[in-house]
Amino acid sequence: MDKLIVHGQREIGGEVLISGAKNAALPILISTILTAEKVELFNIPILQDISTTKKLLHVLGVRVESFDNMATIQANKLTQYDAPYELVKTMRASILVLGPLLARYGQARVSLPGGCAIGSRPVDIHIKGFEAMGAKINISHGYIDATSDHLPNKKLQGTTIFMDQVTVTGTENLMMAATLAEGVTTLENAAREPEVVDLGVCLVKMGAKINGLGTNRIVIEGVKELHGATHEIMFDRIEAGTFMVAAAMMAGEITCQGVDPTKLDAVIRKLIAAGADITVKINTVTVKGKKNLKALNVITSPYPAFPTDMQAQFMAMNCISDGVSEMTETIFENRFMHVQELMRMGAKIDIKHNTAIIRGVEKLEGANVMATDLRASASLVLAGMIAQGKTVIDRIYHLDRGYEALENKFNKLGAKIERTSA
Ligand code: UD1
Repeated sequence: MDKLIVHGQREIGGEVLISGAKNAALPILISTILTAEKVELFNIPILQDISTTKKLLHVLGVRVESFDNMATIQANKLTQYDAPYELVKTMRASILVLGPLLARYGQARVSLPGGCAIGSRPVDIHIKGFEAMGAKINISHGYIDATSDHLPNKKLQGTTIFMDQVTVTGTENLMMAATLAEGVTTLENAAREPEVVDLGVCLVKMGAKINGLGTNRIVIEGVKELHGATHEIMFDRIEAGTFMVAAAMMAGEITCQGVDPTKLDAVIRKLIAAGADITVKINTVTVKGKKNLKALNVITSPYPAFPTDMQAQFMAMNCISDGVSEMTETIFENRFMHVQELMRMGAKIDIKHNTAIIRGVEKLEGANVMATDLRASASLVLAGMIAQGKTVIDRIYHLDRGYEALENKFNKLGAKIERTSA
């Protein structure tokens, strides 16, 4: 199993090109199931969840030709409508095949995603939405079986769906299904995340009729069929945010290239409040950090508020900032697993319910730590870079699920991070 060895307290600075967004690429790759024609995608990040998604498409019979960061995908003839447990268990986003399969083929069988490290993460809102559109859903033996065979022309029926909680993949799943439904579907309390918008933009290029992207009411008028398209995946907000926090806490200067700073607003505001200097241009954001940053209170919430996927990285920064801060996690109930690991490195953190209270310390110390989930892994890399001595991070496969060559990118900026498979 791979480990990272992070040598602490090296100066970092320079320019880094931000990769395509994992959370936009996953649904967009899967959306190709909605058409028989070829879809060409660019700026796909190279990481484990993307390989899993391509494997999933392959299992369904979709033709995927990929080279570097691009892929040509054609779903003209599917061989099965099942997303098997072996793939779904490694990537919960596999649930996203449910909507496209149901909409285009009238049937889908997807393994029920289990719990995961950061919480129970149910899919009830997805299922209620498909039922509201007329699908019959049966859950047994760990699988979700969905069919629209009984509906006129086997087509899902447009309707108004109020989602009890803002859900990113829930919105994406229902939006994809609605593109081929009979009539108009209105998604109320929809997710406004830029990745949802990017998926919507790609669907519109494929011929879908969608209004209200980026708002909490998305209206989709079903069409008979979708066609081929070419699309470039948006940049990864969370990867950019991770480098921005690194610059701030390491007192370095890093320019993230290939970004749209308007989508980084919540993170930029917090870093400015902490004392970092930020320069924003059309496609870049430059963060200049300093010693003795101010500790910051953070509450995670759906976009445009502060993202839960940046909570762990900000916590690493708060650990060595001046003062006491409170970080409240409102999205996932078990997303503080990095706390124990940060404390092994000398951080002072108490947890009360869903709030972590962090007392800034002068320094962190290198230690052996364990990555527990994707973003927690990133926070340990950041903590290792600022710590005295050597930090060894085990179970780094979590990091590889969602970051493209993170250690190589940091090493180019001056860090010293080695990978070992011992
Ligand atoms: C997506 C992102 C993930 C991010 C999260 C929140 C992808 C592939 N992943 O995950 O990186 O951390 O959004 O921004 O895009 N919920 C229900 N029932 C449902 C669906 C969700 O109760 O049917 C709850 C969840 O348990 C959670 C909250 O809603 O408490 C938000 O989850 P959701 O937005 O669905 O997260 P994901 O789409 O899985």
